[in-house]
Amino acid sequence: MTKLTLLTGQTLSFDAQPGLSAPQGAARFDSAGGVLIRDGLVAATGPASELRKAHPEASEIAYGEGLILPGFVDAHAHYPQTAMIASWGKRLIDWLNSYTFPEEMRFADPAYAADIAGRYLDLLLAHGTTTVCSFCTVHPQSVDAYFEAAKARGMRVLGGKTCMDRNAPDGLLDDPKRAYDDSRALLNRWHGVHRLSYVITPRFSPTSTPEQLSALGALWAENPDCLMQTHLSEQTDEIDWVKELFPQARDYLDTYEAHGLLGTNGLYGHAIHLEPRERARLAEVGAALVHCPTSNTFIGSGLFDMAGLAAEGQRIGLATDTGGGSDFSMLRTMCAAYEVAQLRGQALHPSYLLWLATAGSAEALRQGNRIGRLAPGMEADICVLDLASTPAIAQRSRRANDIWEAVFPTIMMGDDRAIRDVWVGGTRVEPSAAQSSGQLF
Ligand code: GUN
Ligand code: ZN
Repeated sequence: MTKLTLLTGQTLSFDAQPGLSAPQGAARFDSAGGVLIRDGLVAATGPASELRKAHPEASEIAYGEGLILPGFVDAHAHYPQTAMIASWGKRLIDWLNSYTFPEEMRFADPAYAADIAGRYLDLLLAHGTTTVCSFCTVHPQSVDAYFEAAKARGMRVLGGKTCMDRNAPDGLLDDPKRAYDDSRALLNRWHGVHRLSYVITPRFSPTSTPEQLSALGALWAENPDCLMQTHLSEQTDEIDWVKELFPQARDYLDTYEAHGLLGTNGLYGHAIHLEPRERARLAEVGAALVHCPTSNTFIGSGLFDMAGLAAEGQRIGLATDTGGGSDFSMLRTMCAAYEVAQLRGQALHPSYLLWLATAGSAEALRQGNRIGRLAPGMEADICVLDLASTPAIAQRSRRANDIWEAVFPTIMMGDDRAIRDVWVGGTRVEPSAAQSSGQLF
């Protein structure tokens, strides 16, 4: 007989996109709810008492006041930057040259890539993140290491080989043909295997020649169901540099558009300093913009226009951008998104922040039919929050009058201590695996 597991506690999920400043009926909250799991999928949700009665054979795991959520989804990260996160004192281009590129060179060694990939995914699980879309390095073995590590953990992850053929150290450069051939071989090896998806990955226009962008545009045209990820308009000096490198382009987005790299399955990280034409085109094609707020404050990039872009109907995801981002935690990322919006005079409701970190990012990654919500048929990737994980948070959440007041202190002050439990594909993650990376040496 198939095993049934019933998680009970407070349950929260989103059936639709909430408003920026109010949930507007999109949230489904139950203070005594349940999630029934069968064969790795959510079989049913509803009041715990009803599920218990209907399925007396289910083994129950009672989380009490714990908040059962879909696992967090990080829509843009660089797993190879795990070991150089929080590197001091630079802005984007200097930060890439001083810290990022030297670290990425180390991924020529498959053993190093495997070590960091495992470490990274264990850190994610310890922070309640069950899906990530990551850049790898130029080395195909960095992609193999990433997908092997995800496969071993049963995780749904997306990612691809970062292609660059100029303006980076020799050891990190390929060329248009190798970028195409390597990406194609990796795509054929990994796309749709287990819970893994290949993502075509030109790093950004400054590190690709027009020929390389075109080669990857051709690969995308041949595989339109794949996502394509890159960076767009993160810093003003970067945009000036793009103008010098592509004098004929109408704007930064045009450097992608002209080479077949603008599309509905495109993911554009940062998207801070956009021109009106770029905004109009992105909305028209239904591409996704990925907001990386801890990165944008850490590297000093600027303030994402959440309210303006959402009002235009842009598709938006949320991400850490590890290691330009300064934390692995989607809680810290929601906190930064709230603060960045405040600096633009926009107050984001906790429901909108939580939607962004779950269903919103899942939809940005075109995975909204599989993950990001607690509903029958969805994959059982789940994060259980302790809403009183520290004395500071507990004394505030005790005063809460509703779930939003109860969860907001954890969004603003919480970290991995707030992650009470994590489930991946219907299996509870062993704390020892998630915490192994807690050892310093
Ligand atoms: N732009 C191009 N590459 C990167 C990167 O690795 N991190 C960030 N934040 N921006 C980039
Ligand atoms: Zn990035």
